Amino acid sequence: MATIGIIGAGEVGSHIARAAIVSGYDVVIANSREASTLSGLVAELGPSASASTAAGAAAAGDFVLVAVPLRLVNDMPVEALAGKVVIDTNNYMAWRDGNYPIVDSGEKTEHELRQEQLPASKVVKAFTHIQAPRIIAWGRSRGSLDRLALAASSDFPEAVEIVARLYAQFGFDTVDNSPLSESWRTRPGQPAWKQERQTRSKLIANLVGANRTIPR
Ligand SMILES: NC(=O)c1ccc[n+]([C@@H]2O[C@H](COP(=O)([O-])OP(=O)(O)OC[C@H]3O[C@@H](n4cnc5c(N)ncnc54)[C@H](OP(=O)(O)O)[C@@H]3O)[C@@H](O)[C@H]2O)c1
Repeated sequence: MATIGIIGAGEVGSHIARAAIVSGYDVVIANSREASTLSGLVAELGPSASASTAAGAAAAGDFVLVAVPLRLVNDMPVEALAGKVVIDTNNYMAWRDGNYPIVDSGEKTEHELRQEQLPASKVVKAFTHIQAPRIIAWGRSRGSLDRLALAASSDFPEAVEIVARLYAQFGFDTVDNSPLSESWRTRPGQPAWKQERQTRSKLIANLVGANRTIPR
């Protein structure tokens, strides 16, 4: 039994909370407002869930899921996340987030930026190329012919291991697409992001077939 801190209680945060509770985790979940604004979600999730502030969720988690768009002005609780594995689900979308020139130029990936914002944490990009409701709907037991795979990227192998354990508990294989500088291969517009159902071999082929010049 472990506790996952979840920062972001929207589509991704709430669906991963549901999947995590089914897999036996406790979750402490936060949005950008008062914890009381999450009373409906927490009631739905049941006794394994509680609500807190972002810093409270970060402090409570054995590891932490950040299901929040990246902002250039760092809005994450840096100190409370220090020393922890941080699973970052953000997909940079300029139409929604605005333009990040350092990412647009190819100098850095959006997840390298998140790692820079959280220098004492171990950031891992995960859950970014599956629509949130499918995390529960598409999981299959190991050995199933229709079992799918998801990618993880990090500069820290132990962070990829935590994601691989979570993916396996949710019914997915893992393809390690590390380090973070390679994480562009799963960003919006790339074959691995656009493809709906990917077995392990199909996902590997799509990562190899990625092309950095494809627009998001
Ligand atoms: N939706 C998907 O299927 C999907 C799949 C893969 C990846 N992603 C990516 O994952 C990220 C989250 O997506 P989403 O669809 O879950 O977004 P969403 O439904 O808009 O939810 C975002 C959540 O983040 C919270 N939030 C924003 N800033 C915060 C802060 N500084 N501190 C604490 N909480 C904060 C929001 O709280 P408030 O309500 O208080 O503003 C909200 O609960 C995005 O980058 C998205 O592109 C989404």
